[in-house]
Amino acid sequence: MCEITEKSVVRGLRDVAAAETKISYVDPNGSLYYLGYNIDDLVGQVIYAEIAYLLIHKRLPKQHELDDFSNQLIIEMNLPDQIIESIKNAPKSCHPMDILRTEVSHLGEYDPDSGDFSDAANFRRATRLIAQVPSIVATINRIRLKKPILVPKKELSFAQNFLFMFKGDIPPEKETNVIHRYMTLHADHGFNASTFAARVTASTNSDMYSAITSAIGTLKGPLHGGASEKVMDMLDEINPEKDVNEYIQGLLDEKKKIMGFGHRMYKAQDPRTKHLRDIVEDFCHRQRSLTLYNRCMEIEQMVFEKKKIYPNVDFYAAVAMDALGVSKEFFPLFFASSRISGWVAHVIEQYEDAVLLRPSADYVGEFGKQFIPIENR
Ligand code: ACO
Repeated sequence: MCEITEKSVVRGLRDVAAAETKISYVDPNGSLYYLGYNIDDLVGQVIYAEIAYLLIHKRLPKQHELDDFSNQLIIEMNLPDQIIESIKNAPKSCHPMDILRTEVSHLGEYDPDSGDFSDAANFRRATRLIAQVPSIVATINRIRLKKPILVPKKELSFAQNFLFMFKGDIPPEKETNVIHRYMTLHADHGFNASTFAARVTASTNSDMYSAITSAIGTLKGPLHGGASEKVMDMLDEINPEKDVNEYIQGLLDEKKKIMGFGHRMYKAQDPRTKHLRDIVEDFCHRQRSLTLYNRCMEIEQMVFEKKKIYPNVDFYAAVAMDALGVSKEFFPLFFASSRISGWVAHVIEQYEDAVLLRPSADYVGEFGKQFIPIENR
């Protein structure tokens, strides 16, 4: 019998620091910092491309650097024809997140820097992915709606182009402000599950496309970025006649999770929530959005009274997206289109750290079983 050393298991890796990072800090008391800047000081003051630059270059750009970076992003939004063809051929019944995951992996086949793992090539790849993920998302939507695929416009900012290519209209100022703030708030968040997945893949010295494919698959789950779509399912289910209190109590009695609530890291309110709540309050002038907003406020109050837990980023993000006219199956794709800047920044940081991320497990299975050939089993 072999001897095994008992290991202490940290279930769910709760509070385990798996590496050092300089990219973002999630303060459990309810603050979030990107490269040392409190997000409260950034939201509404910056455009999203500035944040993407900050995350990958680890400093805020000067105006001319931002202009060059934005121009580069807009150029890189043009997708290879093969990717567009492949999106057209995807089954109509599959979730758009499946198409995004596949096409990011597919992009790796057309990497102009293929085989070059230098820092310069990785920065070029990072810039391309920041541009191409939203572009794939917009293309999936246009193809599903049987509308023409649009090319980016030089005179629009990168985030405006995303919304323009997705919806087909040049976004007015209010929508522009919402998309910049939404994308800024979703850009990075410490060692969340999808970022960790990307870093694990990168830690084997695998390529950036593989790492981002891992991240997208991880973000898709309803306990992570898939939650906002489920929030909208819940809001749609609580029709105006339903009593919110009864509905929430029913979920709790059945020991079901209330989507868009709770967080592994925060002991206080998620700092992104107040910004998203403000966006929603300010922007939701349509009747449906107002009704949803009021219902959200009711749910927030009720869940806090009953469980003492706060809404997370996905709760009000769902209503903000709905008010922007984005259909709910695309909510996780907007999340991915923003988080891509954090993911690629972390992949680069992981390459610099150059250590394999590989935990161990506490084996609790059997030993000494007698092998029986297949014909005798
Ligand atoms: N609804 C009801 N109860 C909840 C919720 C919730 N949404 N979240 C946590 N709790 C309760 C748990 O039932 C548990 O209670 P207990 O101690 O009485 O058993 C306690 O709070 C701790 O919950 P855990 O699931 O252990 O917390 P964990 O840190 O593992 O999970 C998670 C965090 C996954 C986010 C969880 O809160 C959840 O499932 N939320 C719903 C899904 C969601 O909104 N995900 C998005 C998160 S944000 C993001 O990823 C972008």
